[in-house]
Amino acid sequence: MRLRHVVSSLDLTRDDYFRIFELADKFSNVKKLNYLSGKVVSLAFFEPSTRTAQSFHTAAIKLGADVIGFASEESTSIAKGENLADTIRMLNNYSNCIVMRHKFDGAALFASEISDIPIINAGDGKHEHPTQALIDLYTIYKVFGEIDGRTFGLLGDLKYARTVNSLLRALTRFKPKKVFLISPSQLKVRREILDGLNYPVIETENPYDVIQDIDVLYVTRIQKERFVDEVEYEKVKESYVVDLKLVNMMKKDGIILHPLPRVTEIDRKVDKTTNAKYFYQASLAVPLRMALFYEVLGERKDD
Ligand code: NCD
Repeated sequence: MRLRHVVSSLDLTRDDYFRIFELADKFSNVKKLNYLSGKVVSLAFFEPSTRTAQSFHTAAIKLGADVIGFASEESTSIAKGENLADTIRMLNNYSNCIVMRHKFDGAALFASEISDIPIINAGDGKHEHPTQALIDLYTIYKVFGEIDGRTFGLLGDLKYARTVNSLLRALTRFKPKKVFLISPSQLKVRREILDGLNYPVIETENPYDVIQDIDVLYVTRIQKERFVDEVEYEKVKESYVVDLKLVNMMKKDGIILHPLPRVTEIDRKVDKTTNAKYFYQASLAVPLRMALFYEVLGERKDD
């Protein structure tokens, strides 16, 4: 079955994940294909982005699509008072798919309810970022050859980081051995996310207590822009720094992932270790997003 909107990582089945990974493998070294020629992709970025917007853009042109869009709310008619629904309706007239990032939780779901063309959620507020979870899991699949049976440690801002929500939800399609949720008490995973998980999770504040068991350490930035109160941010902003001392206690083949951008939460000295896989992870964004576009927009025999 063809995927339609990708709003949450729960929109994908286990089979969908593996099919996309296998397709991404096929797209990993291609220069340019014409699978989407004649199609137009809209990149509707109402919030800042470097990697996500650029890798979606690259993926679209490598498949032969044309790309339109904008990179900030200020450059659209929203700045003149147009509402989101009207903007989505306009993009329905001009394109075949909308990749959208927005500061409000639920914006992508709202768009999917009024859009006749597929909506791909590239991040909605502190809610979800399902294509980042695809990249995260694809990296694990490439490094270890499988995803089931691993012990995960998610560290940092587990309350506001949307990539964490999407990864936790995506992991319900797999069989993680255990997931450690490592955060200051103010930044714990929100209840509505935690309640939907079907594998063992253990919350802790201290990475040193659990680092020896972890296969995949997933580090996140403290999401400054989501804090309602600056004072609260100041209290937790430097809660953790993943440094050589911590990394040296990891399993030899344990890996460190980060959706990026990194601020101070991973010491740059860690970049040179064999455990650091976050730049490799970022490099997989293009083939993975090509695979996703192909899934959503490519011509198929069963169309
Ligand atoms: C993330 C995001 O936008 O949620 N960035 C990304 O897309 N790789 C992570 C972050 O901003 O911390």
